[in-house]
Amino acid sequence: MISLNLDQLAGMQQEVLDTLTTAENSWGEFMTLADAEHPWTGWFDAPRKNGFNEGKFIQSWAKEVDVHYDCVVVCGIGGSFAGTKAVDDALYPKLTHNTPTKPIYYAGNHLCERSLIELLDHLQDKYPLINVVSKSGTTTEPALAFRALLDYIERKFPDEIAQRVVVTTDVEKGDLCGFVEQQGCKSFVIPSNIGGRFSVLSAVGLVPLCLAGYEVSHLLTGADQLYTSLRAADSAAEAHPVWLHAAARHTAWSKGIRIDALAYTTPKLDAFVAWWKQLFGESEGKQDKGLFPAGLAYTTDLHSMGQYLQQGWPAILETFMTFNHSGSISPGGIERRLKIPAPKAAQDKFARLVGRNMEDINSVAMESAYMAHASRGIPCLKLEIDGSLNLHTLGYMFAYFQCVCTLTARLAGLNPFDQPGVEDYKKNMFRLLEV
Ligand code: PA5
Repeated sequence: MISLNLDQLAGMQQEVLDTLTTAENSWGEFMTLADAEHPWTGWFDAPRKNGFNEGKFIQSWAKEVDVHYDCVVVCGIGGSFAGTKAVDDALYPKLTHNTPTKPIYYAGNHLCERSLIELLDHLQDKYPLINVVSKSGTTTEPALAFRALLDYIERKFPDEIAQRVVVTTDVEKGDLCGFVEQQGCKSFVIPSNIGGRFSVLSAVGLVPLCLAGYEVSHLLTGADQLYTSLRAADSAAEAHPVWLHAAARHTAWSKGIRIDALAYTTPKLDAFVAWWKQLFGESEGKQDKGLFPAGLAYTTDLHSMGQYLQQGWPAILETFMTFNHSGSISPGGIERRLKIPAPKAAQDKFARLVGRNMEDINSVAMESAYMAHASRGIPCLKLEIDGSLNLHTLGYMFAYFQCVCTLTARLAGLNPFDQPGVEDYKKNMFRLLEV
């Protein structure tokens, strides 16, 4: 399903291979902790533990929601929205009305007044379901946006608060429990042993995606394929890409690399890479350590950051992520391709490319950047996913990066599951706001 190519690692290959046994052992220790239900490990193997059943339950509940709705608003920030957006932006055809899924809009992931006004205006002729997602229930951004959305619901659908608001929170600790009890609205549980940025395959992602009409079982099956492959992995046969990837990132840090740049070939993955940045930044940026996660949206960024990669400060590990099957799937499951056409009025120098698929040209551009950056001495990894961009491969990639992140943090002696640093700005903000 996935392969990691280390051929162009600027001479670090041997050190990566030397780190492999440590990585494999550390991973074995993590799985033992997860099997013993150690705090924060609930995400590993989640589909098998409860996720498949939960996915089925949420899917059938979503099909029977007893109020008419034509869109979903997810109100959450960080891990409480990033995974949902990653899936929806990757798969929802943005420029057509002919789609089997309902649109998802986002609130509570920023404090921008103008954006919130635009959303509220847009909702004036809509029938939304609001899914407020907050593990703690105390986060400023979703709490304030939820106030604005509640105000809108109270004005427009005064008798339908219980039907139009769905809450996803930690029922043991979450501050939203009082609201659920008072209003009698539907609620879903974020398990206490799953942290925000590891929660996309829990109710956090499953509820809004089911409400929008996605078949989340494929997402869970994809993740399960990765977890199962890790359970079966045996270094005597072949090193698992998760171990290799974590060993490469760990080695890169020890050699003075400070930035981990993930290069990808489609704007459809912008939100996925935003999810990836949140996962790695919040999990590894501690104790003055951690590769700074950056995204490179190719080929767009070859016209900006490409210059930096070629001649700028070279402390970068670049990972080229590609899906080896990239046709566009239209509603109804029909694969569509675009061949370079031959319009009569064309005056450019690209006549030789007529008849070739656009995606083939995209692959050639990616390979060309890989060759150019590697020959400049940038350590480059190639991460090749065997499949097209769909729910299954996205589920697999969520699980893959969660495991790589956890293992790299362990190799650096870090706890990937806490985020003590984010409290500092909040203390200042609350003092300035006098709340
Ligand atoms: O990964 C994390 O824990 C964070 O990014 C949280 O998801 C984010 O801060 C939102 O927290 P909450 O769901 O409690 O509102």
